[in-house]
Amino acid sequence: MDISRKHFFIGSAALVAAAGLKAAAPNPIGKIQGFDESFESKTDGPWEPFSDKKVRVGIAGYGVCTFGAVFFFQDHPNVEVVAATDLDPERCKKLAQVVGAKRTYPSAEEMIDKEGKNMDAVFIATDAASHADLVLRALDRGYHVCSAVPALLGERQLDRAPMMIEAVKKSGGLVYALFETTAFRPQAIAMRRIYEAGGFGQLAYTEGEYFHHSVGVGAIGSYKGWRIGLPPQYYPTHSNGFYTCVTHGHFTEVTCVGTPDEHPVYKERKNSYGNPFRSEVAFFKTSDGGSARMTVAWGLPGYDGELGRCFGTLGCFRNDRFAGNFSIVKNLRLVRAGLPPGMKNNGHHGGSHPYLTDDFLRAILVPGYKVCVDVATALNTTVSGVYAHLSAMKGGETLKIPVFSL
Ligand SMILES: NC(=O)c1ccc[n+]([C@@H]2O[C@H](COP(=O)([O-])OP(=O)(O)OC[C@H]3O[C@@H](n4cnc5c(N)ncnc54)[C@H](O)[C@@H]3O)[C@@H](O)[C@H]2O)c1
Repeated sequence: MDISRKHFFIGSAALVAAAGLKAAAPNPIGKIQGFDESFESKTDGPWEPFSDKKVRVGIAGYGVCTFGAVFFFQDHPNVEVVAATDLDPERCKKLAQVVGAKRTYPSAEEMIDKEGKNMDAVFIATDAASHADLVLRALDRGYHVCSAVPALLGERQLDRAPMMIEAVKKSGGLVYALFETTAFRPQAIAMRRIYEAGGFGQLAYTEGEYFHHSVGVGAIGSYKGWRIGLPPQYYPTHSNGFYTCVTHGHFTEVTCVGTPDEHPVYKERKNSYGNPFRSEVAFFKTSDGGSARMTVAWGLPGYDGELGRCFGTLGCFRNDRFAGNFSIVKNLRLVRAGLPPGMKNNGHHGGSHPYLTDDFLRAILVPGYKVCVDVATALNTTVSGVYAHLSAMKGGETLKIPVFSL
């Protein structure tokens, strides 16, 4: 998805001041730096170097989405990519070429077990079912680790959640990050800054949605077919992230409605999950004392997108702009920072990829810097979706959701 041509509108200090609006004026409309033409040229300032050290990174996974290469570790000035792996030898070779890795391994497990002190961190970009176990293995062997979403896959892996929290706790300072792309979309960055400054007042309601027609029946490939019939809410992070990655809060309860589908994958449950639903809409209670409606839809054509909105007692953020009481919001910088020279931004997922990489590296190299999607936020974002699917399977029964914290 390339959204670089879209025009964004957002309320901000500059915008309000330029428009000569009073603090409480609703709905100013205008362009703001960073939200219109180009992710690279419109930022709120240049990237500032934060360390002269290099993190030695091993990368696992070069599947359908070529994810091992498109977070651009290979272009970051604080990275040396030392190793690459994919189970498929051709993909492994290609990944090593693209990221400039000197060493290759036939599996992520071997890379993690054999690199020893030659590697500092691992990027797990393998299939969704393998993330949790590879993350646990990497932490156990003493590596910082980041993984693609979700943090774990489905009910069968719920036992990994407390194990991941414990592994990070006992690691003595290793960084874990989930590369949830929603967290570094321009809209989510703006909403996070507004939320953290108190600009929403009480956040009473959030909407998030991930519409991706067909993905659930495996229209794009997947290792061992993990995408075939995937319960939509087993892949909840792009929608839930509009609450959890904005507020760092969590969901407490869920009721969810699933929509059955005529496709045999669902109707006859020809999938490894026993899943009959192609779209699922979850309604959550949130830790802010409000609610959230989070949709994941594989079966609704005509509208592909990952979008979110926040509604608070002082104002709301929707359609890429803040509307409401500007007394707090007017002083905020709502545009994201620049990227290191030479670091690519392919615009995928709102141009979020290189920002996730930069965030992970800062957390490793800058004392006191906290990664945005840490293990608690990763699990609060992912596990809540698993409970949403369980609720849908029970006809919408309200379920309590476990909370994870460090
Ligand atoms: N917006 C987003 O954040 C976003 C978008 C697309 C994909 N993803 C995630 O990125 C990940 C990769 O997606 P994909 O479509 O490329 O997956 P895929 O299923 O097509 O490919 C997975 C790759 O991992 C390799 N692999 C599996 N286990 C391995 C192991 N133990 N060691 C080494 N290699 C191993 C496989 O050989 C395969 O090439 C998935 O988890 C997916 O959920 C996230």
